[in-house]
Amino acid sequence: MRDDFWASLPPLVVVTGKGGVGKTVVSCALARAAVGAGLRVLLLELDARESLHRFLGCSPSGGGVIRVAPGLAAENVRPRAVVDRLIGERVRPAWVARRLIKSVIYEQFVQGAPGLREVAALGYAIRATGRGPLAAPGLGRAGPGAAGEAGGHDLVLLDAPATGHGVSLLLAPRLLSEAIGGGPIAALATEVAAVVGDPAACGLWAVSTAEGMALRETLELDAALRGGLGRGLDLLAVNRLLPDAGAEPAGVEEWEAVWRRRAAGERDRLAKLAGAWRGPLLRLPLSGHEGPAAVAELAAALREA
Ligand SMILES: Nc1ncnc2c1ncn2[C@@H]1O[C@H](COP(=O)(O)OP(=O)(O)O)[C@@H](O)[C@H]1O
Ligand SMILES: [Mg+2]
Repeated sequence: MRDDFWASLPPLVVVTGKGGVGKTVVSCALARAAVGAGLRVLLLELDARESLHRFLGCSPSGGGVIRVAPGLAAENVRPRAVVDRLIGERVRPAWVARRLIKSVIYEQFVQGAPGLREVAALGYAIRATGRGPLAAPGLGRAGPGAAGEAGGHDLVLLDAPATGHGVSLLLAPRLLSEAIGGGPIAALATEVAAVVGDPAACGLWAVSTAEGMALRETLELDAALRGGLGRGLDLLAVNRLLPDAGAEPAGVEEWEAVWRRRAAGERDRLAKLAGAWRGPLLRLPLSGHEGPAAVAELAAALREA
C-alpha cells in the first residue's frame, strides 16, 4: 500500500474476524507496515490470552504499555481495569467513585451490565487516538491501562475479539446508550457509539481465510454491522492464501495434487466473493514462518500490496 493509504486512515481501526484466522498476526503486520510508512502506532489487543509479544518479539504487556520499536507501542487491554478507571474518572466526587468501585453492588454492576466492558475498552481505544471529547486531557492517572495518556499516536489499531464477540463489541455502545437513559455511563456509551458509527473516525476491518466458513462469517458480520450500526466493514483481508503454482517446490506428487485442489478451491471462492464483497480486498500469503518472522513477511506483503 502506498503512503497515502496509511495517511488517509481514520485514527482508530478495529480488526475483527473469525477465531484463529490470524487477526493478531495481521494486526501486528498492519502495525509494522504503518510504522514503515511513517505513522506512530499503538496496537491494542483485547484478548485475555495475550499473544502480541509472541508476534512482535517483545516482552509481555501484562496490561501495561510496551515500547516495541520506534513508532510502535503495544498493550494488552484488561477490560476490568479500564472499567474501574473510567468509573474513577466519570463519577464525581472522586471519593464516591472510590467507594463505589469497592462496593458489592458495583461488582455486580460490572459483571452484569451488558456491554459495559466493551464500551469501556472501545472508549479506551478512542481516547488513545487523542481526538474527540473522550480524549480530554487531565483525566485519570498513569498506571495499567494508561496508553491513552501516552498520546501522540497517529493510528490506534485494536485487535478485537473473534467475530461473534466482535459484533457485540461494536454494537454494545449503541445498545447500552439506548438501555440506560442518563448519567455518566450512558454519556460515555453515546460518545463511543458515535465514533464507532462514523467511518471517518473508526475503520472496521475484517480478517478471513479463503475457507468457505470464514468467508461466510465475514459477510454475515458485514451485514450485522450494516443492520446494527448503519455502516459495514471498510476492508477485508484474506489471510493465509496459498502461494502461486510457480512458487511451489515440485517433487512430492500426492502433496502437489492436494495443493492444486486447495489452490483451485481458494480461487473459486475468491472469485465468488467478488460478487458479494465490493470493498477493498487485501490478499495475504500463507507464511512459512512463525512469530515475528511471519509478521515481517506479511508486513512486507502489505507494503507492496
Ligand atoms: N499468513 C499466515 N501464515 C502462516 N501462519 C499464520 C498466518 N496468519 C496466522 N498464522 C498462524 O495462525 C495462528 C493463529 O493466528 P492468530 O493471529 O493468533 O489468530 P487470531 O488472533 O485470529 O486468533 C498462529 O499460530 C499464527 O502464527
Ligand atoms: Mg488473537
